[in-house]
Amino acid sequence: MIIILLGPPGAGKGTQATRIMNNNGLVQLSTGDMLRAAVAAQTEVGKKAKDFMDSGKLVTDDIVIGIIADRIEEDDCKSGFLLDGFPRTVAQAEALDQLLINKGLKLDAVVEMKVNDESLVDRITGRYTCAECNQGYHDTNLKPQKAGVCDSCGSTNFNRRSDDNRETVVSRLATYHAQTAPLLPFYEAQGVLKTIDGMADIDDVTVQINDVLKQL
Ligand code: AP5
Ligand code: MG
Ligand code: ZN
Repeated sequence: MIIILLGPPGAGKGTQATRIMNNNGLVQLSTGDMLRAAVAAQTEVGKKAKDFMDSGKLVTDDIVIGIIADRIEEDDCKSGFLLDGFPRTVAQAEALDQLLINKGLKLDAVVEMKVNDESLVDRITGRYTCAECNQGYHDTNLKPQKAGVCDSCGSTNFNRRSDDNRETVVSRLATYHAQTAPLLPFYEAQGVLKTIDGMADIDDVTVQINDVLKQL
């Protein structure tokens, strides 16, 4: 199964991808996570990507298409994958179509997670993750059971993303509306677009996505 989670910054793509991956055996391919790893490792890709990411702009299509083209060749993608944050431009969507055609694969569904812009700023500025296992949390919406201790691994170290400040979030939202929203009519025309209510609480969103997957 090949699924795209499509939605603005903070829509819950990463949160839901982790859950769907655990329940359905699909591997999560997050271009944002891959780019952050490249920035941290100071690779050539990371050096090129850093300024775009810090300013809330998109990294160039050639870089992210290259990353995904390489990644889907790996063994763990054989039984399907879940794209989180890719594609983000029509050019990336067209490149993905071509990559899938070349491999004899087909896109099963694009799940649009619809969320109001006003809630996104709050979601993103309150977000943090475990520094050891990357489990995601939120200052008010999703706290660890014991304050300051990761539920999954017991670590007491947490990170906040450098692009999760108010100014960059506003820029990321504008980028989404200008460059990524045109993917909605693109996938609607392919008959694969499924829209869900991303404003619902986290467990309810998981139920809605699982319902979409069951109908495929
Ligand atoms: P990326 O890492 O993809 O960031 P993004 O799209 O801005 O999305 P986020 O990761 O911020 O949000 P999310 O939807 O995953 O939400 P989450 O589940 O964490 O990209 C970062 C940058 O990399 C881009 O700006 C760009 O520069 C570059 N990049 C990446 N891919 C690229 C590409 N293809 N092309 C070009 N450039 C690319 O949830 C957010 C918070 O809300 C969490 O705290 C969570 O607990 C909470 N939350 C989640 N769901 C709910 C809910 N239902 N109710 C209440 N709270 C919730
Ligand atoms: Mg994410
Ligand atoms: Zn942890």
